[in-house]
Amino acid sequence: MSSEKLRQEILALVKEYYKQEWPEKEFKPGATPLEYAGRVFDEHELVNLVDSSLDFWLTTGRYANEFEQKFAAYLGRRYALLTNSGSSANLLAVSALTSPKLKDRQLVPGDEVITVACGFPTTVNPIYQNNLVPVFVDVDLATYNANVAQVEAAISPRTKAIFLAHTLGNPFDLEAIKALCQTHQLFLLEDNCDALGSKYDNKLTGTFGDLSTFSYYPAHHITMGEGGCVSADSPVLKVVVESFRDWGRDCYCAPGVANTCGKRFEWQLASLPEGYDHKYIYSHIGYNLKLTDMQASVGLAQLDKLPTFIEARKRNWNFLRNGLAHLEDYFILPEPTKNSDPSWFAFVLTVRDGKQIKRKDLANFLESKKIATRHVFGGNLIRQPAYQDKNMKVIGDLSNTDKVMKDSIVLGVYPGLDERRIEYMIETISDFIKS
Ligand SMILES: Cc1ncc(COP(=O)(O)O)c(C=O)c1O
Repeated sequence: MSSEKLRQEILALVKEYYKQEWPEKEFKPGATPLEYAGRVFDEHELVNLVDSSLDFWLTTGRYANEFEQKFAAYLGRRYALLTNSGSSANLLAVSALTSPKLKDRQLVPGDEVITVACGFPTTVNPIYQNNLVPVFVDVDLATYNANVAQVEAAISPRTKAIFLAHTLGNPFDLEAIKALCQTHQLFLLEDNCDALGSKYDNKLTGTFGDLSTFSYYPAHHITMGEGGCVSADSPVLKVVVESFRDWGRDCYCAPGVANTCGKRFEWQLASLPEGYDHKYIYSHIGYNLKLTDMQASVGLAQLDKLPTFIEARKRNWNFLRNGLAHLEDYFILPEPTKNSDPSWFAFVLTVRDGKQIKRKDLANFLESKKIATRHVFGGNLIRQPAYQDKNMKVIGDLSNTDKVMKDSIVLGVYPGLDERRIEYMIETISDFIKS
């Protein structure tokens, strides 16, 4: 039998395997665990994964190339550069701004980047990792996004960039933030890890920033297991991100390819001897943050499902929002940012001041009923052990950020949930309030 025929047989068996191993599960309220997020997949992901493993190319290859092209086209951006996680994407985005190739716009140690403390640590960490100074502003309750007046107040002569996440899928006020960036000549970095498919002013988030980042960790809208992406429109930023990702090299050949520039042995850079192999010329203090083709193959199958995933997330969120409307006296219910259409990552409830409800009791009650809960990531990051004694600027008292840390709880809306499951979540929360 030819190897191609064998491959087709293996893949046909993989399809069969999927059907036997992952049959549809019956939902038993109170017994079936309701996760807050997770992988949603079928035989296509498994087939792609085995197909790519049979290629045994291992590093970035045909699946990664196809994903990058399709993802960039989906966004309507020129470039999508895959990396091995959303955290790596964030590290690349901030590192890129320190490149000498940006000339007078290059960020240097001590420059300031405005961000929030109410979020995920690896949005903030690359600021430290690049010897820059984070300037923390508070968030607005109900949208959980940066307060625009505080962002404006935070701008100093050392401010060079604004780096914000679209919190739990809810776009931040892009119109106002973008206007500030234009007025003050600041880079805008969008952490779009939780917001794939969200729109602001009818345009996808992740397409507004100079660079934007994505995560394909299983909790996110699409998954590769581990994976991430940086998207750009600027050719210079693209080259710089790629360089930081690929060991810091100057060369931009794809893995296994040589002489893309057509003058591999004709470069003369820094004090290297003339004609030194371009493959081994380094223009940045880089990393290796590439991903494998196996990861990309899973992502490619997920990309086909993205429109239905987005719809399911919106449907589940709306169902939960309507079903909990009668508890508005007890909880601050989440609100989409004005002029936005979020592709929600999750649903936040914040206990109102003065209510005899403890977030901890609600979490324990829901977990005992098999409903998974989370907090809003790190709460107030500056209260975390890692950030003690770190250089930072703080605008105001971050009182809303503290409130979120103390009183907010996060529930799932991912496509693994449906109306029956959400109905059960609504009933259970209502029971807790009654009791
Ligand atoms: C807003 C945000 N940024 C970045 C990340 C990091 O992504 P990853 O887990 O792929 O490193 C996450 C992770 O969940 C996140 O929620």
